[in-house]
Amino acid sequence: MYRNTPHSISLHDYRPPEFLIDRVDLRFELDPERTSVEARLRLRRNPAATRGDGTLRLHGEQLDLEQVAMDDHPLTPTDYRVDAESLTLLRVPDRLTLLTRVRIHPNLNTALEGLYQSGDMLCTQCEAEGFRRITYFLDRPDVMARYGTTLVADRRRFPVLLSNGNRVESQDLPDGRHLVRWEDPFPKPSYLFALIAGDLSAVEDRFITASGREVELKIYVEPHNLDKCDHAMRSLQKAMRWDEERFGREYDLDVFMIVAVSHFNMGAMENKGLNVFNDKYVLARPDTATDADFEGIEGVIAHEYFHNWTGNRITCRDWFQLSLKEGFTVYRDQEFSADMGSRGVKRINDVRLLRAHQFPEDGGPMAHPVRPESYIEINNFYTATVYQKGAEVVRMQANLLGPERFRQATDLYFERHDGQAVTTDDFVRCMEDASGRDLGQFRRWYDQAGTPELTVAGDYDATSGAYTLTIRQYTPPTPGQVVKAPFHIPLAIGLLGPDGRDLPLRLAGEPSATAPGTRVLELREVEERFCFIDLTARPVPSLLRGFPAPVKLRFDYSDDDLLFLMAHDSDGFNRWDAAQTLLQRLLLGLVADPEAGIPEHFFDAFRRALLDPSSDRALLAEVLTLPSESYLGDQMEVVDVDGIHRAYMALGRLVGERLREDLLRVYRDNRETGPYAFTPEASGRRALKNLALGYLMRVGDAQALQDCQSQFAAGHNMTDVMAALRLLVDHGGAEGAQALDDFYRRWSRESLVLDKWFSVQATSSRPDTLERVRQLMGHTDFSLRNPNRVRSLVGAFCTANQVRFHAVDGDGYRFLADRVLELDPLNPQIASRLLKAMIRWRCFDPGRQALMRAEIERILASEELSNDAFEVASKALESR
Ligand code: TRP
Ligand code: ZN
Repeated sequence: MYRNTPHSISLHDYRPPEFLIDRVDLRFELDPERTSVEARLRLRRNPAATRGDGTLRLHGEQLDLEQVAMDDHPLTPTDYRVDAESLTLLRVPDRLTLLTRVRIHPNLNTALEGLYQSGDMLCTQCEAEGFRRITYFLDRPDVMARYGTTLVADRRRFPVLLSNGNRVESQDLPDGRHLVRWEDPFPKPSYLFALIAGDLSAVEDRFITASGREVELKIYVEPHNLDKCDHAMRSLQKAMRWDEERFGREYDLDVFMIVAVSHFNMGAMENKGLNVFNDKYVLARPDTATDADFEGIEGVIAHEYFHNWTGNRITCRDWFQLSLKEGFTVYRDQEFSADMGSRGVKRINDVRLLRAHQFPEDGGPMAHPVRPESYIEINNFYTATVYQKGAEVVRMQANLLGPERFRQATDLYFERHDGQAVTTDDFVRCMEDASGRDLGQFRRWYDQAGTPELTVAGDYDATSGAYTLTIRQYTPPTPGQVVKAPFHIPLAIGLLGPDGRDLPLRLAGEPSATAPGTRVLELREVEERFCFIDLTARPVPSLLRGFPAPVKLRFDYSDDDLLFLMAHDSDGFNRWDAAQTLLQRLLLGLVADPEAGIPEHFFDAFRRALLDPSSDRALLAEVLTLPSESYLGDQMEVVDVDGIHRAYMALGRLVGERLREDLLRVYRDNRETGPYAFTPEASGRRALKNLALGYLMRVGDAQALQDCQSQFAAGHNMTDVMAALRLLVDHGGAEGAQALDDFYRRWSRESLVLDKWFSVQATSSRPDTLERVRQLMGHTDFSLRNPNRVRSLVGAFCTANQVRFHAVDGDGYRFLADRVLELDPLNPQIASRLLKAMIRWRCFDPGRQALMRAEIERILASEELSNDAFEVASKALESR
């Protein structure tokens, strides 16, 4: 309708590659303006593939082809065809050596895919299909080859030259150049190739593996960042040890390198032996990084390291299997972080993330299964569904099998598939083979999209002492999938007696009860009934303990039930969840009726929790945090943007007023005393203290403002400084402006800290925020070419400021659409991600719907839209 529709790729069209590549020798003459890439590929016909038309088609984009030779004979243009996406050799033998030479231009590469320039360094990003922007190749993950890489560059500009594997040669060349050669002994798909050239310094350490081998560890950064690598290095060592202990996985090369880059589309990349990171996930010092940053670094370092086995040694057959590596690796990094910090808090945060991003995605126009069926642009499918829901699907299997069987199953997976490119189905088969369980129905989690809704009813019969739970499951339709078959769902539950303790559980027909505690019911049907007997009073059910499955739960709890669970549930996750349900209920009540009062028992419970001396502070901070405005919006039929904001502010203020003395005490008692430590205890203390300060600031009293200003000025650590700055900016006035000025003056040369300065302004709920964001677009420190900067200003405004982004006049939408159109030609991945901020336009009122729709149509009408943005915009508008 708007232009040539890009074609979509389907899982059922998968065919094995006609050719395999055994060996690749690459030679780069590096130069930011024009780099020459010579590739020698040893190819042979794949015995497992059906024969095609006798041609050989290699992927290649934006390459200036200079030379082609087959088996040392130069080819002429009659022997091949070149178009914008490929090089096709017209007649090829069953075995051949192909030589190509191309030119590429890293300095013009703003998409940050392939070889590009970041500051003074050159680096690569090849996942998913970036290698084809470096050289002609079979750029698909089921073609695994051994690589030798020769790098030649000016010695002064690029003293450090890195690639995958081990360094096998280095020498000086004439004209001030030098050469370094790398050899990677492990066959790998092209998306794991990497090179780095730059003037970098390294922090070095080592690791002795379980079998006694010594591994050199190096973190490369720009020299001025050398003092911000300690935490990353310690995280890496912990991750390496943990993977040996928990999964029996040892590292396999003599050196493991990490490079921090400041222009990066995503978090980090697991290239074999040479992980490339967004510097946000490497650099930290207590005065520059918050607790959340420290946590993020620990998690992402572990994630990329864990990919060495789950992703690299065993990779994906095709990109539909992306969750094979991502879901499993996220599960592994979640478990690692749980072991390093507080398991309970980690679970809460993971579920919060899932509910905030994956559930809406699963209910929107781009809903897709964990293993998608089709895509136009694979970069659009690095999603919360593939990553976070994929991790939940692995977690369910781990829980169904139990720890020993699950370990046997992963051992089997690593042994059976080492060196292969496989599917999610191969993974599940290992789970089945090691456990003897039938996961046939369970597999639906991989191919049905949508979040199942469990509607549970409890019925107590006082005469028989029986309590019956009736559970129905229903999964709403998603694009292309109208009718859903029932899922196999593990449901961990407990029943609380009148004293708040877990009851022994006995189902009708069972000879005896199981010990008091949690029991896992397995659902397989649309409706099921469980009848518990021998109960002398109506129990309060604690359902979905620990969040055993990515589902939504509906149960008709009374306020008293929720308060009871919040106070007594033996499951920490459900204590938190009961509190969240209650807060959500109060807030939605205020949305419906701003005059609705808050029942006294709520303040009592809040106060009791706050003053409980035995409570874990980090957990308490989670319990007492209000659900976000966007999450509240997701719970409404039609999002009431302004009503939610009003309710949110009102409840915060009430809590501050009613609990002022207690909050003040908590604030004072938990202030920082010693030097910063990133421990669960210390960060829990900071979280609780800053939460208390937040409520106090809502009241707007002079004392709180003063505390906030002194905390900001004291500058003990970035966690406290940012918490105070955020509150001061929301407070506004001279105090807010002053704090922003001070902060800017102190940190304008630290790019990652400056990102915080931008985002704190973009997420302020002050009415003039969009105006301010527009001004900041023109700030000398703003650039559309740095994704972190774009995310910190534009991304933060559009995805973390519901009330201002969704302003009723549509100005926020116009702003976003303008930015998308501006960014799309530069960096389609970032443009398309931003655009997703409008994808749920149908959840809003008719006025806002029309405004968003018009902006999406304006984007779609653009003459030269990337596949990335086209896919998101067109799917957003598809009729339901
Ligand atoms: N494999 C990376 C990870 O999850 C993801 C990634 C990094 C990526 N950079 C990318 C995906 C660029 C697509 C494009 O760890
Ligand atoms: Zn990953």
